[in-house]
Amino acid sequence: MSISRLSVSNLRNLCSVNLELAAGINLFIGKNGSGKTSLLESIYLLGLARSFRSAKLKPIINSHSQECTVFAELLTENNRKLPLGLKRSLSGELTIRYAGEKIRTVAKLAQLLPIQIINPDTFQLLEGGPKLRRQFLDWGVFHVEHHYVEHWRQAQKCIKQRNSLLRRDKISPTELKVWSEALANLANKIDQLRQYYIDQFIPVFNEIVSQLIELPMLSLTYYPGWDKKVDLLALLTSNLDKEQSQHRTLYGPHRADIKVKIDGQPAGEILSRGQLKLVTAALKIAQGFLFSKFTSQKSIYLIDDIAAELDNDKRNKLCQLIETMNCQAFITCVEDSSLNYEWTKDVKMFHVEHGQVRPYV
Ligand SMILES: Nc1ncnc2c1ncn2[C@@H]1O[C@H](COP(=O)(O)OP(=O)(O)OP(=O)(O)O)[C@@H](O)[C@H]1O
Ligand SMILES: [Mg+2]
Repeated sequence: MSISRLSVSNLRNLCSVNLELAAGINLFIGKNGSGKTSLLESIYLLGLARSFRSAKLKPIINSHSQECTVFAELLTENNRKLPLGLKRSLSGELTIRYAGEKIRTVAKLAQLLPIQIINPDTFQLLEGGPKLRRQFLDWGVFHVEHHYVEHWRQAQKCIKQRNSLLRRDKISPTELKVWSEALANLANKIDQLRQYYIDQFIPVFNEIVSQLIELPMLSLTYYPGWDKKVDLLALLTSNLDKEQSQHRTLYGPHRADIKVKIDGQPAGEILSRGQLKLVTAALKIAQGFLFSKFTSQKSIYLIDDIAAELDNDKRNKLCQLIETMNCQAFITCVEDSSLNYEWTKDVKMFHVEHGQVRPYV
């Protein structure tokens, strides 16, 4: 799936934008504050019904408007053109229509338009806490195995129930046992699916990183959320006192992590900004690659300020890698002089100025 046309109205400073897009690379060049990130935000909004910049609606909708809309014509793998539209209003109303039908769940939307974003926030994958890395992992697993989400939801419920029991002064051992057993059972299913995904992910990631940067001491490992040499149920039982004093479940899939290290040290604490950008880009590209492999669908890449933090050689390597992915990409850049890569595929360049987007001449 790719986006062949895009219309945006009243999203930040993009009052009325209408574009015919390339199925390959779409480059948006413009000065600071011109509307480049907002353009990527509009596509992200269309794919996930939320922004990557703000949890609130007000800042996204143009300050002189009550609602914003994003409309796209999607080109399917078998060359069908289907309309997808999204409207968000200040009152909180959200309407999504695809091919004449209302879409009621964001999960359905995410399946239609799978998006990978690479921007400064992506650094948080390495610099931030495990929650983001778990979300990253879960995105991948979910797209390989759709029933994963059901195990995950049930496990969340068990953890919630256990935590509420652990907060009580007096705990009913039978009640706790029911939730502990259910959690241990689900944890093993979740772990199996995550482990399978990671086993596929690691060689792809290593190969992609090596195309971008030389980091021989880089390693990526998966931590399931407890020491797997010990049975989770036994671990929960033997740590009851500790859990009671902390009022929460200390072991399980909700504590999982992907550990990216350089010579045994967390990569986020060691790498330079440019190195961080390349490693996080490799994580995203590897995820998109596996997504295509498992689903025969292609991700859409949103890459904000591609040139920032990178030297010329690394920029070119990143551009080349993106090109070889054969996906649709939306790339922003402040100045065209900072990106001298010679694209060989289908490319369209646009100039962004004061919220207007025009073909680049
Ligand atoms: N709700 C809003 N209504 C109107 N304008 C807004 C709103 N929110 C942000 N803006 C403005 O929209 C413009 C576009 O911002 P955007 O972040 O897309 O710029 P950019 O081209 O990515 O800039 P940079 O190169 O600095 O990252 C900015 O000038 C900003 O002040
Ligand atoms: Mg920007």
